[in-house]
Amino acid sequence: MLDPSTFINDSILELQSKIGDRKAIIALSGGVDSSVASVLSSRAIGSNLVAVFVDHGLLREGEAEYVEKAFKDRLNLRIVDASSEFLGRLEGVVDPEEKRKIIGEVFINVFERIALELGAECLVQGTIAPDWIESQGQIKSHHNVALPHGLVLEIVEPIRELYKDEVRILGSELGLPDEIVNRQPFPGPGLAVRVIGALTPEKINICRKANAIVEEEIKEEGMDEVLWQYFAVLTDSKVTGVKGDIRDYGYLVVLRMVESMDAMTANVPELPWVMIKRISQRITAEVPEVTHVALSVSDKPPSTIEFA
Ligand code: XMP
Repeated sequence: MLDPSTFINDSILELQSKIGDRKAIIALSGGVDSSVASVLSSRAIGSNLVAVFVDHGLLREGEAEYVEKAFKDRLNLRIVDASSEFLGRLEGVVDPEEKRKIIGEVFINVFERIALELGAECLVQGTIAPDWIESQGQIKSHHNVALPHGLVLEIVEPIRELYKDEVRILGSELGLPDEIVNRQPFPGPGLAVRVIGALTPEKINICRKANAIVEEEIKEEGMDEVLWQYFAVLTDSKVTGVKGDIRDYGYLVVLRMVESMDAMTANVPELPWVMIKRISQRITAEVPEVTHVALSVSDKPPSTIEFA
C-alpha cells in the first residue's frame, strides 16, 4: 500500500467519481474490513452511504450496542433487528452448511428490502485481496449484483487490493478505535456455527454468556494480542456434573483459542493454565446450564478453527 493518507485521498476521489450523487449501502458487521470500507466511503460520499448492521440474533453479548456506540457519530448507521426472521427460518436446522445457507439467504432478503427502501444504487463491500484471490482469482473489479427480488446494485470495493495488515493500518489512520482495528474475526453466521446442533434461544444464550467470559478473561490476561481467535463452543453433548450434593446433567462447553496468520492454518499455543482454570470455574459458576468445560488442543489442519 502507498502511504495511508495518500491512499485515503486517492480513494475518496475515486469513490466520489464512481458513486457520484447516488445512494450507496454497505453491510457493516463491525469487523475491521467492513468498518474500514464504511468509514472510508462515508468520508467520500457522506450520508449518501447508509451502513446497515443486521442483528440476526446470533451475535456476541452486547455486540449491537457496541457497534452503535462505535459508529453512530461516524456513519449514517441503520441497525436492523431481524432476529425473529433468522431464528424462525433456522428452527430445527442441525447441519452447519444448511445453517450458513439459510442465514445467507435471509441476510440478502433483509438487505434488499432496505436497499429498495433507501433507493440505493451502489453496494459498497469490504472485500480485501485474499477474499477474491482465494475464490479462484475473480479479478474483475467492476461488476453488478442482482439481488433475489430483482434489485441490481453496482459493486464498489474500495479496499479490494489490500491485505489485512494494511486494512488495520488504514483503520488507525481513519481514526477507528484500536478495539475495532484489532478485533478478532467473527464469522458472518455468528453463534449459529458455535452452537452445535439445532439452535434454540436457550442454547444461543448459554453460548453467548460462556463466550463473553472467555473474551473477558483473555483480554484481562493480555492474550487478545497474541491469539487470532478465542471463543466458546456449545456442544450438543450433555454430561453429568455435581453441584453441591446434587447430581446435575448439563452442557459441555469447549474453549477454542488459536494463533494464526491468515486462518488458513492455525495452532493452539501453550496457554496460561491459571487462566484456563479460571475461565472453566467462571463458566460453570456463572452459566448454570454448563456442567463441564473442555479445552480444544487441535491445530488446523487437521481441524478447522470453527467447530461447525
Ligand atoms: P475455519 O473454521 O474454516 O475458519 O478454519 C477459517 C476462518 O473463517 C471464519 N469462518 C467464517 N467466516 N462465514 C464467515 O464469515 C462463515 O461461514 C465462516 N466459517 C468460518 C472463521 O471464524 C475463521 O476465522
